[in-house]
Amino acid sequence: MMRELSDNIMDIAQNSISAGAALTEVHVKVSHADNLITFVFQDDGCGMSEELVQSVIEPFTTTRKTRKVGLGLPLLKQTAEMTGGTLDIRSTVGVGTTVTATFGLDHIDRPPMGDVAGAWFSLVVMNPEKEFLFTYDYDGQVFTFDTREVRAAVAPIPLNQMEISAWIQECLQSEINELHGGNFT
Ligand SMILES: Nc1ncnc2c1ncn2[C@@H]1O[C@H](COP(=O)(O)OP(=O)(O)O)[C@@H](O)[C@H]1O
Ligand SMILES: [Mg+2]
Repeated sequence: MMRELSDNIMDIAQNSISAGAALTEVHVKVSHADNLITFVFQDDGCGMSEELVQSVIEPFTTTRKTRKVGLGLPLLKQTAEMTGGTLDIRSTVGVGTTVTATFGLDHIDRPPMGDVAGAWFSLVVMNPEKEFLFTYDYDGQVFTFDTREVRAAVAPIPLNQMEISAWIQECLQSEINELHGGNFT
């Protein structure tokens, strides 16, 4: 069982990396007006057939002999539905995949948000050659982080070089904290 919502970020975005995505987008939205938290993962990776999408989200009811049981998406689905939310997967083979999860913001079973900045930071330093677009929308205030912009600014220094990665970590942490005064859980 995942303890925090942010624990899903690494896992689901890592699926995009495994799918060969060049650009992986992770969007986090907190809306008190809608009483919802929304995670959107979008990639330009290899995509999934309709059949694979079905087998991925129903791992215990589908006969599977050709691939191992993964739990990233089923866990995300379980967490979403347990908080009155939903999981939606849109995918086109050869084009990419969009995974959208919603969580009931004030639902009693909603896990805390956790460390979104830390999850984003890990993705960048573990995949320094990949591009990421991150947004965090907190009640309409939006923070955007685009590795393509950072890369262009620091080239040819790689994003996992010590000073650059330290700057990225600090930037992600302080910008997210600034959005909600550091007191949103
Ligand atoms: N973004 C994606 N693009 C292409 N295929 C994906 C994507 N996300 C998931 N998949 C497919 O769905 C499977 C299940 O994913 P997941 O539930 O995270 O378990 P695991 O990653 O452990 O296999 C993956 O093995 C992969 O075949
Ligand atoms: Mg996975």
